[in-house]
Amino acid sequence: MRTMRPRRFWVTMIVMATMNSPKTSDALKEADRLNSESRTANQLMQGLTVLLNKLMLKYNWVGFYMLEPDANPPMLALGHYTGAMTPHTRIGLNQGICGAAASSGKTIVVDDVKKDPRYLACSLETQSEIVVPIFVRGEVAGELDIDSHFLAAFSADDRELVEYCAKLVGKRLESK
Ligand code: SME
Repeated sequence: MRTMRPRRFWVTMIVMATMNSPKTSDALKEADRLNSESRTANQLMQGLTVLLNKLMLKYNWVGFYMLEPDANPPMLALGHYTGAMTPHTRIGLNQGICGAAASSGKTIVVDDVKKDPRYLACSLETQSEIVVPIFVRGEVAGELDIDSHFLAAFSADDRELVEYCAKLVGKRLESK
C-alpha cells in the first residue's frame, strides 16, 4: 500500500533539493561570463576560484597549481586559490593526486581521499577531490584542484564543469 506523505514533507524535500543542488549549468554560464570580462589569464584564474567556491556549495577549496618554468625536476607551484591556507605550496610530479594528474595528463577524481595512498592532506575536513590538468599547446601547464568536505562530491556533471574551466584557462594562456 502506498504511504501518503503530508504536503509539508514534499515542500521540505523540494527546498532541500534546491539548496543542495547548485546547478553546474549555471556555473558554466557564469564561467563564460567571467572569461569574457577578464582581461588576463591571471584575472580569469583568480575569478574562477571565487566563482566555483561561491556557486558550488561542495567545492570547499578551489585552487590552481602551475608548472614552474624551467624547474628541474618539474615542480607544481600553488597559484590563485580560495579556501583555507595549504601547507602544499610546491608539489613534485611524483607526489600526491596533483602530481599524478599533471604527470598523466588525465583528470583524477577521488571519491574518498582516505582510501587513496597518493593523497597529500591539506585539511582534516577534506573527503573527496578532483584534479584536472590544464593544457597549453598540447602540453600540461598546470591544473585546477578542488577539495570537498563531502564524500564523492564530484559527479560526471561536476567533472564536465571543472574540465570546461580548465580549458578556458588553457586557451587564455595560449593566447598570451
Ligand atoms: N591533496 C592534494 C594536495 C593539494 S591540496 O589538496 C590543496 C594532493 O594530494 O596532491
